[in-house]
Amino acid sequence: MNQLNGIDYGTPKSKSENLVTLEIDGIEVTVPQGTSVMRAAAEYGINVPKLCATDSLEAFGSCRLCLVEIEGRRGYPASCTTPAEAGMKIKTQTPKLADIRRGVMELYISDHPLDCLTCPTNGNCELQDMAGVVGLRDVRYGYDGENHLKLEKDESNPYFTYDASKCIVCNRCVRACEETQGTFALTIDGRGFASRVSASQNESFIESECVSCGACVDACPTATLTEKTVIIMGQGEHSKITTCAYCGVGCSFKAEMKGNEVVRMVPNPDGKANQGHACVKGRFAWGYATHKDRMLKPMIRSKITDPWKEVSWEEAINYTASEFKRIQAKYGKDSIGGLVSSRCTNEEGYLVQKLVRAAFGNNNVDTCARVCHSPTGYGLKVTLGESAGTQTFESVMKSDVIVVIGANPANAHPVFASQMKRRIRQGAKLIVVDPRTTEMVKSPHVQADYHLKLMPGTNVAIVNALAYVILSEKLHKPEFIAERCETASFAEWEHFILQEENSPEAVEKISGVPAEEIRAAARMYANAKNGAIYYGLGVTEHAQGSTTVIGIANLAMATGNIGREGVGVNPLRGQNNVQGSCDMGSFPHELPGYRHVSDSTTRAEFEAAWNCVLDPEPGLRIPNMFDAAMDGTFMGLYCQGEDIVQSDPDTQHVTSALESMECIVVQDIFLNETAKYAHVFLPGSSFLEKDGTFTNAERRISRVRKVMPPKAGKGDWEVTCMLATALGYPMSYKHPREIMDEIASLTPTFTGVSFKRIDELGGSIQWPCNDAAPEGTPTMHIGEFVRGKGKFIDTKYFGSGEKVNKKFPLILTTGRILSQYNVGAQTRRTANNMWHSEDRLEIHPQDALDRGIKQNDWVGIHSRAGETVLRADITENVQPGVVYTTFHFPESGANVITTSSSDWATNCPEYKVTAVQIMPVSQPSEWQRTYNRFNTQQESFASEQMIPKESAVAK
Ligand code: SF4
Ligand code: SF4
Ligand code: SF4
Ligand code: FES
Repeated sequence: MNQLNGIDYGTPKSKSENLVTLEIDGIEVTVPQGTSVMRAAAEYGINVPKLCATDSLEAFGSCRLCLVEIEGRRGYPASCTTPAEAGMKIKTQTPKLADIRRGVMELYISDHPLDCLTCPTNGNCELQDMAGVVGLRDVRYGYDGENHLKLEKDESNPYFTYDASKCIVCNRCVRACEETQGTFALTIDGRGFASRVSASQNESFIESECVSCGACVDACPTATLTEKTVIIMGQGEHSKITTCAYCGVGCSFKAEMKGNEVVRMVPNPDGKANQGHACVKGRFAWGYATHKDRMLKPMIRSKITDPWKEVSWEEAINYTASEFKRIQAKYGKDSIGGLVSSRCTNEEGYLVQKLVRAAFGNNNVDTCARVCHSPTGYGLKVTLGESAGTQTFESVMKSDVIVVIGANPANAHPVFASQMKRRIRQGAKLIVVDPRTTEMVKSPHVQADYHLKLMPGTNVAIVNALAYVILSEKLHKPEFIAERCETASFAEWEHFILQEENSPEAVEKISGVPAEEIRAAARMYANAKNGAIYYGLGVTEHAQGSTTVIGIANLAMATGNIGREGVGVNPLRGQNNVQGSCDMGSFPHELPGYRHVSDSTTRAEFEAAWNCVLDPEPGLRIPNMFDAAMDGTFMGLYCQGEDIVQSDPDTQHVTSALESMECIVVQDIFLNETAKYAHVFLPGSSFLEKDGTFTNAERRISRVRKVMPPKAGKGDWEVTCMLATALGYPMSYKHPREIMDEIASLTPTFTGVSFKRIDELGGSIQWPCNDAAPEGTPTMHIGEFVRGKGKFIDTKYFGSGEKVNKKFPLILTTGRILSQYNVGAQTRRTANNMWHSEDRLEIHPQDALDRGIKQNDWVGIHSRAGETVLRADITENVQPGVVYTTFHFPESGANVITTSSSDWATNCPEYKVTAVQIMPVSQPSEWQRTYNRFNTQQESFASEQMIPKESAVAK
């Protein structure tokens, strides 16, 4: 049961603007048309008993507990399914109703274990509450009749139990799986007395289609579906609202605690990004935060071939400061730099870039957004004027045509995917542009109208062809363009697009997508009342990532699909705070708020506030840092919460660069792959140990609240302050709220943001939030683009430099899976491994047959950069000529084979296109054997008590 504020209105809120007035128990009530009688009563404090109704689900009307009497109507209608009508006179409490309700409860209770005192939901059970409310004192039928009390529990899911003996068959779980999650994994099997909840075809939960989102657990009014942590630990004693630290959806959760231990994470119904929903990661996979692999003591060593030495915080910081000073004295001011993490808070990111600019004295700061959404920042800035998505998630509920390009939200942004699927079930059309047949193409009750199954690397060609159809068939919006955009840029772009090379027929030859499908999809998008484009890393992680982003913005402007709800250009940001880390000035050329370091007015403002002199030259990007390290000019790195060895392309180049450096400082919660090349390890804190903010893909700044003290004794921001101070640049913040105040004072789009303001506005604010928009900005570019007039820019297609040939005839593309997250450092330390315990290589049956590869065979994958070995998964999800893998396990070496090819504008790596050859093999690759030896050695270098030999799967 998931009710945050304790009030469950029974049925969802009506969105009608027409009001009706009626009388309930003698009280005049006025509610929006379409409100149920149950909700109308509850809104005025009159609670009608209920069991099958809950306000997160549509009314179902099965339990018959909520009956009422309506003047002039026969019988006793269910208040949950009866809409309130003007003039109705309703009684919710009469002797007859009391009789009926007691009778209903008697039937339920006669088939329910009477073990309330030992039940995990004792005190938090709606059945128990309703028995009390209806005044049940006796069960006339006794307890000895036919019943379900001996049914076995299904404990197969690692996170929750299904205890069929407690099920009252209210159907709430089934509806939650359908309406909230959209997976349709549950049904009520059997009829009458025999009816029971069934997962898929009467399978155990773990074997079924269930994706473990927990929506059914939240909806269950009894202890039938209960979190195992609640069964083991009992219910929480206190709670705090915080924000998920996994993906860019930014779901709000109530962390229920016992002392300093989390009992469960309950999705917040008032959370504006998730509206009470969650996915398996945020809902259940938080055990990593207390995993025994956590590193809790600072450590230093002079060489990576030395064992670690545990030291005090002071010694670690002083050692780092002296090393950085030594390196700068020897190699120059620009020989060190820092990396901001998109997993850390805005406040932490801001401090790291400030440390680099003010204390290191250069602009050598970059962030992991470099390797995911840096093309979004560039492409949207130059066309629309702001480096961010244009909408709220809720906006999709007003879209008529949804275009998903290079994104798999069902796996990477699951809670938003559920919302998008809800809209599609309501009738919105769907166009998917993806080399793979993802869950967005076909899943229960979702079927894409068009799936443009293009060859990886041809996004720009497809986007141009869509534009070609729109312009050649005059489906664009000339009035919008004339009023809102630079008309000269449009004319130039129109001329460029209408060249024959951009026609669907020409692009069919490049992309493999039939011209007619391109035409039909373009017409569908352009003719939509509201057409919205959502895109992900399948757009950005290409040599022409920025070009595709620009092309998408061109499409939206040409069709007038921008500047209102239901439309827009919507990058699905990867990590929890990738938007925020970019906003905070983590790129080497930009100060907070995307202001260029070369701008003297901006610099003067920061110099005055920070009391320092800023370098006007942009610093090094991550790949330039590696190159400079190999050249012997970049020798020191402070890396907070990022695992570049596993996440960046061309692993062998990265590790060679790190081996060339003299002082690498890693601040993290685990001894990650990068830490194995480090000289200083500073223990980090998990999101449960932090105060601060994350900014999600909708520009929503949400509070992150500390629910337990930092396990290593210091918050990440405190450590950055210590390092700055030790370097001679004192930082003396007392609380992250002071850091946000400083951010607000220096960043025009954040002027109105403070922890207090966020709390006042219900926990989150969408930037820009300033005098012009004191409550934030849900939809951007209304009336006018941030840059004034929207700018069309030509997007010429160039084939990827990663060419297929006889030696490397296949294209490897990479992506994510629902249960694991990125480098897997967190999810691999949870029971999520039950769903995905290794990265596999998806191969089309024809390609497998040609090479004699069978399901589960070991397959060697060679690229121009390197070689690794994975097991084969033969599937038609990929097309012939394309292979696919995830990259969640370090030993997979997925990035050993990705190359240094990158986006022309931002250096975002081209993870999505690598030319490879594959063949059956019988042993790991040379790289994997070397990795295993190195890994074993590095783990032995940490002291026994700090690194357990085996990392157990957390609860
Ligand atoms: S956990 Fe989610 S997917 Fe699984 S059965 Fe429950 S609602 Fe459906
Ligand atoms: S499992 Fe819970 S929600 Fe589902 S039918 Fe049974 S009691 Fe209702
Ligand atoms: S959708 Fe993203 S933010 Fe929400 S619970 Fe899942 S991982 Fe966390
Ligand atoms: S609550 Fe209305 S019928 Fe169950």
